[in-house]
Amino acid sequence: MTEAKASTAIAPMPPLSRREFMNYAWLASLGFVFVVGFGGATYFFSFPRFKVGEFGGIFPLGKAGEALPAPEDPPIHNLEGKFWLVNVNGMIVALYDICVHLGCLYEWQPVSARFECPCHGSKYTKDGTYVEGPAPRSLDRMAVAFTDASGKVVAPADPNAKPIKIPADKELNVIVDTGKQVSGDPHG
Ligand code: FES
Repeated sequence: MTEAKASTAIAPMPPLSRREFMNYAWLASLGFVFVVGFGGATYFFSFPRFKVGEFGGIFPLGKAGEALPAPEDPPIHNLEGKFWLVNVNGMIVALYDICVHLGCLYEWQPVSARFECPCHGSKYTKDGTYVEGPAPRSLDRMAVAFTDASGKVVAPADPNAKPIKIPADKELNVIVDTGKQVSGDPHG
């Protein structure tokens, strides 16, 4: 009886060498990084970081026929979204309302038909192109797109958030993605 027990007993594991211990620790840390990284990325892409109508997220502006300015109209300032909505000869663009020099709020000046910054005098045309002053580039832009009644994008934003043509269907909805900002072009 005693002999049978002794034959099935599990021999104790030999102690790990320092090298083995370091290898196991390294593998464990790799696994941890993978799990945390993959889980974090899944979480990040599963949940939008900003709510609709919150700066950084999507701003639905309503039907194109009501939300957009006409070509002869002054730009419309959306304070919550921090952009100016501009119609430039039938093309629509959203301009980030922060001056690209040092971050002041510029304004639309109807007399000169320009955007002008009160801080150091930078000026931009209606489509945001740099005219003069210390600003290093044209105004930054945000992505504008059009969706149908189901929310499906039927006229996508330009990849560089440049002005896009206003669709003929004025029932389409206008959206501005304030999280998709593109820097204005540097000037010579
Ligand atoms: S912050 Fe606008 S010109 Fe300096």
